[in-house]
Amino acid sequence: MPSARDVIESVLGKPSVFKSKEKLFPEYLPPYLPHREEQLRALAEYFRFLLVEPGTISQRVLLVGGIGTGKTVTARRFGSDFKYLARQRGINLEYVHVNCHRDRSLYLVMQEISRQLRVPVPHRGLSAQEMYSVILKHLEERDQYVIIALDEFDYFISVAGSDAVYFLVRTYDEHPELTKRVNFIFIARDMSNLGLLDAATESYLMRNIIYFKPYTSRELYDILKHRAEEAFYEGAVSDDVLSYVAEIVGVDRGGTGNARLALEILLLAGEIADREGAQRVTIEHVRRAHSHATPSLVHTIDSLPYLQLHELLVLLAAVRVLRMKGEPYARMGEVEREYQQICEELGLRPRKHTQVYEYVMNLKRLGIIDAKPSGKGYRGRSTLIGISVGPLDMLERKIMELVEAVRGEQPE
Ligand SMILES: Nc1ncnc2c1ncn2[C@@H]1O[C@H](COP(=O)(O)OP(=O)(O)OP(=O)(O)O)[C@@H](O)[C@H]1O
Ligand SMILES: [Mg+2]
Repeated sequence: MPSARDVIESVLGKPSVFKSKEKLFPEYLPPYLPHREEQLRALAEYFRFLLVEPGTISQRVLLVGGIGTGKTVTARRFGSDFKYLARQRGINLEYVHVNCHRDRSLYLVMQEISRQLRVPVPHRGLSAQEMYSVILKHLEERDQYVIIALDEFDYFISVAGSDAVYFLVRTYDEHPELTKRVNFIFIARDMSNLGLLDAATESYLMRNIIYFKPYTSRELYDILKHRAEEAFYEGAVSDDVLSYVAEIVGVDRGGTGNARLALEILLLAGEIADREGAQRVTIEHVRRAHSHATPSLVHTIDSLPYLQLHELLVLLAAVRVLRMKGEPYARMGEVEREYQQICEELGLRPRKHTQVYEYVMNLKRLGIIDAKPSGKGYRGRSTLIGISVGPLDMLERKIMELVEAVRGEQPE
């Protein structure tokens, strides 16, 4: 029988198909963005004035496109490279990227902007509006310009409301005497939420739009090829395997054209190959990876990092109850009891019922869970909670990983 150390060592010494797996992770910012040259060029056109006559206008650009079409990565890549080029020309430019999923109020957005710009603001007592003034003053004092990308902006519109949007968009209408230092990139999946705004604000936002279309299989092939070269050892992934993934996801082949899904399938296929001790990724590995990575599960897993700790715990409780029961729905009460137990195990103070209910509603808004009032056949009125994506064990694992990570960062 092998000793424990032998078992551990056998894993450490095991060869892998990956040379740098994190190059496939969503947070990695690749140097190449195949098939987004047009969008990058358009962004450069819109913001070119910052290099020539900064301060003359406050630019606003809207990026619109479906899931996984590269909006976030293109904005980040543009921000990082444009900032570099501006600084080379002696212009003090910053790029700030805020995810409105996580920072879902004007106050939280302002807090995040000041954090990224390293603006010293008093922790307590300032309203969002006052914080914004402090930021504007800070930029003025340092002769600094900024491009602020508000990602998942459609979500911000529905949660923070049109007054918050109005406030941002009209920054310099209030202060025509100020040098225009703040510029925005708004990022949204579709434009339906813009209809919630008043007509003037809506037309303000709609002036400069850059569209992101779902990727075709040929485009996805090029994207995968670049990322695979960085992530895998040479020869570990054949062109056939890359084409196969690209064809599963390509919009021209009936797929969704979501690059995130394509990358997730490739990553999973590599992990399956590693687990089997295979030297290369095969079509069969891709097939199995595909059956695991349904788009909706990818969407859910992608949303997890934006949840607060206790939201994650409530979700974890729902997953556990649903797994235990093996039924499509769990009752709110059951989920809440499980949640309290999880908190106890982790040594955390559980949140009150009304707060837990808020979390459930937010998880529903994000499309992570399904929540509905119980109908007939149940004693008493209750909320029923369901999760339509699967497999739940995989979801549970991902939530656990995040809970661990979040807990590592902060004690409570
Ligand atoms: N042209 C590209 N080249 C390389 N990688 C890409 C490209 N387009 C997208 N990706 C990768 O695909 C994944 C999804 O892209 P991204 O997060 O930018 O999509 P999105 O449009 O913001 O989607 P969502 O609306 O869901 O937020 C990321 O890992 C990103 O790095
Ligand atoms: Mg995005």
